[in-house]
Amino acid sequence: MPGARSAGTENANKTGDFRSVASRDRGLLRFWGHSAVLGAPTKRLPRTDHRYAPIMAPVIRPIEPRDLPEIQAELETHWHSTQIWSLGRMHQADALPGFVAEVNGAFAGLVTLHMDPGGWQCEVITLSSRMPAGGVGAALLAAAERHARTAGCRRIFLTTTNDNTHAMRFYQRQGWCFCTLHKGIVDRVRTVITDLPLLGFHGIQVRDEIEFERWLADSAN
Ligand SMILES: CC(C)(COP(=O)(O)OP(=O)(O)OC[C@H]1O[C@@H](n2cnc3c(N)ncnc32)[C@H](O)[C@@H]1OP(=O)(O)O)[C@@H](O)C(=O)NCCC(=O)NCCS
Repeated sequence: MPGARSAGTENANKTGDFRSVASRDRGLLRFWGHSAVLGAPTKRLPRTDHRYAPIMAPVIRPIEPRDLPEIQAELETHWHSTQIWSLGRMHQADALPGFVAEVNGAFAGLVTLHMDPGGWQCEVITLSSRMPAGGVGAALLAAAERHARTAGCRRIFLTTTNDNTHAMRFYQRQGWCFCTLHKGIVDRVRTVITDLPLLGFHGIQVRDEIEFERWLADSAN
């Protein structure tokens, strides 16, 4: 089951800051799918801000064994665990295939993937970028789509939780579509994992998973 929590959630619920609690509970919180974005919120600055301009375009390459320490650090940064839950399934994300982004030779982002048995569809389990608004997220997502298409998948999909409005915007800007609301799925988990944090980004109560998809057989999508 997804994550557990320790002291601090009560305060988080009072203050409306789920992430601040998560940061105090490192290692304990394993959350649901893409909901567990526990790092600092991505602050949108003007695109001319020099901090957000990449020195060079990201290089995207498949994950290699030597990436394991960076991958584990990346997962811990955003999800506080290497075990990622989505749609009721736990994924050991540091053992999944996927792609790494590098900028100027440095690790700049990660996408991990799970191919369904039979290979007709592929799920993006995690996507994260160390260079907000530098094109890393889009390049990784595009690599995931290319990989799925090349593998013969007809569909690629992912989930995020109802509080992750930044991700919802990002995926739609990348051409992905809402497809299914898994209403109350996080609430149901909470009946078993009773101390899951209640509040997520922006103080929004985390209740649902929202599934996004892209049909690969349909070039118009
Ligand atoms: C969601 C996430 C992966 C996006 O990654 P990112 O690297 O910021 O994404 P990109 O830079 O490719 O795109 C973001 C925006 O920057 C813009 N951008 C890209 N390159 C740019 C550049 N060189 N200069 C200025 N802006 C640029 C993009 O056009 C996009 O803007 P838009 O949404 O208005 O079209 C990232 O915010 C993240 O890691 N979040 C935390 C983890 C998370 O929430 N993951 C998803 C869980 S569901």
